[in-house]
Amino acid sequence: MENSSPLTPLAVALGERAYFIHIGPAQSAAAVDAAASLLNGKRAAFIVTSPVLAAAHPALFSAFRAAGATVHTTSVDGEHAKRIGELERLWEALAAARMDRHGVVFAVGGGVIGDLAGFAAASYLRGVDFIQVPTTLLAMVDSAVGGKTGINLSAGKNLAGAFYQPRAVYADTALLATLPPREFAAGMAEVIKYGLLGDRALFDQLALAGRLSWDHPALPDIIRRCCASKAAIVSEDERETAPEGGRALLNLGHTFAHAIENVAGYGEYLHGEAVSVGLILATRLSAALGLLDASALPAVEHLLGKNNLPVALRKPLPVDALMDAMRRDKKVRQGALRFVLLRALGESITQFVDDDALVRRLWLEAGAGN
Ligand code: NAD
Ligand code: GLY
Repeated sequence: MENSSPLTPLAVALGERAYFIHIGPAQSAAAVDAAASLLNGKRAAFIVTSPVLAAAHPALFSAFRAAGATVHTTSVDGEHAKRIGELERLWEALAAARMDRHGVVFAVGGGVIGDLAGFAAASYLRGVDFIQVPTTLLAMVDSAVGGKTGINLSAGKNLAGAFYQPRAVYADTALLATLPPREFAAGMAEVIKYGLLGDRALFDQLALAGRLSWDHPALPDIIRRCCASKAAIVSEDERETAPEGGRALLNLGHTFAHAIENVAGYGEYLHGEAVSVGLILATRLSAALGLLDASALPAVEHLLGKNNLPVALRKPLPVDALMDAMRRDKKVRQGALRFVLLRALGESITQFVDDDALVRRLWLEAGAGN
């Protein structure tokens, strides 16, 4: 890990599509400045946000408007905004604002706004520039970086979208002051994921620290470490095509998590909460397969629990439905499911596992029912 201040912009090395991630407690002002300088250069700036964000941070949107930007608010908040009707509304608003190819879309919100506005930017006029201003911890460490954009279809999540990298990311940790604690905790599951999958020093730092909050002095550096891990992975395997490892490693715990979200019904668990249970299960599976020393398990459980995250299912979910959901979600080769597994805390691999009985047992131990 390079030794630099959290305030030093972090580069995502993607050739001509390279960009910087700016992290710290004043970065939304830097995003407003970026919009103002675009407008001074006669380029339109179009801000996309949600009703909750607009109400929580009125001064930020007043500043964007004062600079001359157009502010567009989605009609609903949360996952339901990631749908075709809302995308159409956004395309029409871009056209009504007479955005031309030189205009820039700013996504100011969590992963939902980033995914929706990013896809609108990827498709409007066959692609206009966009800038991410993530406002949840999850978006700062994960969804705002790496260029996955898209919407949900009734057949499933993220089924229509594009790989489309932002031109810059401005992650302002001060905006997290208004984030509900449950959403902050959900973001911590992704932070802990980065420690487990490839950054042992981060895992140890989190284990030693007390529970983090939006104003913890170490938070900008921790976000930066996560972004550095994601940037390194994405610059090697941008479109997740590596046969082994690569971008798929970012899905540690997610094969289990997607099954929980699917079977429990979307909204029952926040994504990060399902990931937390998934991280426990991926760790236990790694130990059961003899890849990971079982003595590592309590540290993982303790760290997730300390961050107010679930380490088992809250209510029993049927194990057959969970197994079916996993088979639908992930690549299966000759009946074997593909998992991200741990060889050590901070070292992960992708591997096919054909022992359904073992996976079933682990589900039952984590609170699933027959
Ligand atoms: P979200 O965008 O729905 O935000 C969670 C809630 O917090 C919302 O109600 C939102 O209005 C509110 N909120 C956001 N910022 C706030 C703030 N500063 N103060 C007060 N309230 C605030 O959820 P999320 O967890 O950020 O993102 C989840 C989405 O991200 C999912 O749709 C998921 O598919 C997507 N995702 C995408 C990627 C990717 O690589 N593109 C990666 C992970 C997740
Ligand atoms: N969140 C997983 C990815 O960006 O690939």
